[in-house]
Amino acid sequence: MIQHDPITKEPYIRLPAPLSHIILTPPRLEEDITNNNNNNNNNNEAGNPPTGDLSAAITALNDPRVFLWLEGPPYPYLADHASSFIRRSHAECQRILRSAEQEQEQGKWADGCPFTDIRDTSLPSPSPSSGPVESGDAKSIAQASKIGDFKVVRYPFYELARGSDEQRDARLRNEALTAGDEAIEWSVGFWLAPSHHRQGIMSAALQSIISEWAIPRMNAWTIGACTFVENTGSKKTLEKCGFVFQETIIQGSAELPEAKGGGRRDLHVLKWRRNI
Ligand SMILES: CC(C)(COP(=O)(O)OP(=O)(O)OC[C@H]1O[C@@H](n2cnc3c(N)ncnc32)[C@H](O)[C@@H]1OP(=O)(O)O)[C@@H](O)C(=O)NCCC(=O)NCCS
Repeated sequence: MIQHDPITKEPYIRLPAPLSHIILTPPRLEEDITNNNNNNNNNNEAGNPPTGDLSAAITALNDPRVFLWLEGPPYPYLADHASSFIRRSHAECQRILRSAEQEQEQGKWADGCPFTDIRDTSLPSPSPSSGPVESGDAKSIAQASKIGDFKVVRYPFYELARGSDEQRDARLRNEALTAGDEAIEWSVGFWLAPSHHRQGIMSAALQSIISEWAIPRMNAWTIGACTFVENTGSKKTLEKCGFVFQETIIQGSAELPEAKGGGRRDLHVLKWRRNI
């Protein structure tokens, strides 16, 4: 169920017990949690991400237990990388949320998922001076520490030759489909801070995103994912949520920097298909 912080009005999803201390929220800028301005309609790419969110991303994405499994983020992962990623993601998610409100009223579908941040409400606040000073649940939501990241995007067709015309055309066709079209192929990617690995969090988060948003608000029917073949944790997480192994792509990754092991890595593609 989508809930709203009574003070900031930020929407969030709470994971089911025994993980109810974990919530999923859109990306935040300082103003979302300090001004108490009920402003979920801004499209601000210039604001500052909360320092706690920046340091959570920087710490995790410089930790080999995380970055060695991710092709995309640069390494070393610097403050500028984190800051511009959060700002871009904030603008995109605010756009989705803004249009999702109107879309729901008009019986239309959302064009993506705004719940990208995984947060732990049981941890001490990373910046005790910020956030609303109300007591109880609302305070812990606005100040909940970021522990991971989740992204839903249009599927990039990993199985087609990287950079080929065929892959480019497939992406363009998929991106041109209107929100809610059953033919859209979506894709997920995620990471979690090592302090929170192996507690069932990512599989519960993925299940919640699928059942609380991707099905009812996006009308998603197909979701793909791609892992390095050695990434047992990611594959088991996906399989637990109903994803099924499709194929291995030999040397399917980009050329990796030395810090990530160098060379090109073999990939596994998995897909989730909605049962009617
Ligand atoms: C992959 C990752 C997101 C898993 O998150 P998590 O919250 O630890 O996963 P869960 O606790 O929900 O575990 C789901 C299943 O996978 C298994 N699992 C998780 N990590 C595992 C590991 N390293 N080795 C073997 N199995 C693992 C769990 O045992 C569980 O299966 P079970 O219920 O049958 O016991 C996390 O390890 C991570 O962030 N890794 C680094 C980044 C990454 O790999 N991202 C994905 C890139 S494709």
